[in-house]
Amino acid sequence: MKTLKKLACTAASLAIAFTISGCSSLDSITGGKRIIRISHAQSESHPEHQGLLKFKEVIESQLGDKYEVQIFPNELLGAAQKAIELCQTGAIDFVVAGTANVETFEDSYEIFSMPYLFTSPEAYHEVMNDAEYMEKLYASTDQSGFRVMTWFDAGVRSFYSTKKIETPDDLKGQKIRVQQSPASVAMVKAFGAAASPMAFGEVYTAIQQGVIQGAENNELALTNNKHGEVAKYYSYTNHQMIPDVLIGNTKFLDSLSPEEYDIFMDAAQQATQLELDEWEEAAAEATDYAKNTQKVEFIEVDIEKFRDKVIGVQQEMIDNNPKITEMYEHIQKVNEEYENKEDAE
Ligand code: GCU
Repeated sequence: MKTLKKLACTAASLAIAFTISGCSSLDSITGGKRIIRISHAQSESHPEHQGLLKFKEVIESQLGDKYEVQIFPNELLGAAQKAIELCQTGAIDFVVAGTANVETFEDSYEIFSMPYLFTSPEAYHEVMNDAEYMEKLYASTDQSGFRVMTWFDAGVRSFYSTKKIETPDDLKGQKIRVQQSPASVAMVKAFGAAASPMAFGEVYTAIQQGVIQGAENNELALTNNKHGEVAKYYSYTNHQMIPDVLIGNTKFLDSLSPEEYDIFMDAAQQATQLELDEWEEAAAEATDYAKNTQKVEFIEVDIEKFRDKVIGVQQEMIDNNPKITEMYEHIQKVNEEYENKEDAE
């Protein structure tokens, strides 16, 4: 019965995806309202979904006579890269995706996949919350048909696997899923593992079937995406903090009046605020559930040993992509500020 339900669900999502990819924005007008479609990869209990509900609420409360916002979770409209392509053409209006998925569209975004880029979550938040500083990067994909409106916290990424990882040597011989990001592939190789790039929605089955031994992500992947059912060791390597971003179709955004645009931007800011407010508790709850119900073992490792393995990747990335230098230096300054603050305390 469950399988039947699942099949029916998949067929329905495919039908939606096909209808959407074949439609023009005119098809998006229903009952006099312009339907706004947002795609994302998380479940409905994830803080990002809650943030998007806020986005919907703000827009509809002020522009509800004109717009209806529909949110499609769980990669229903396609995995991140596909969804970004759909947003590029205007088949859908907004997508939430990790910046790792934006790298292949604009390589400035590689900066966030750099291992051990941020030295604290506080520095990460400070950089990402500086909307004025981020504006140049956010607008850098305008030519490609989309732009970033705001960011969402996606926590700190660490390895989890069917095999215990306590030292970098334990990664040898393991096949680890990474996002479809050249920089993350380079990082996992530098750690000594084999990198297997694939969409988020494929990870559970790949671990279950032994195609890969593990992956790397924040703690919510264990629960919201059920990876903790199949991978029982989570090691705090804390190697990346990769933000998610809310991407909008440029043509659509440009078609808004200045007043409407301000409302959309305000809605995006409020979505971020709500998501950030919920993140920490959601991560703590996920850890608790993974530990006590899924019986995942959480392992504290000597992070310096892991850092040493991949620190060379930072310089390699800068040498290969001069576009990221300025931002790298900016982030180093913010890192230092927070390190000094911590020392003073
Ligand atoms: C996190 C992140 C997603 C990303 C996923 C992944 O869950 O929030 O945007 O797609 O990791 O590893 O693919």
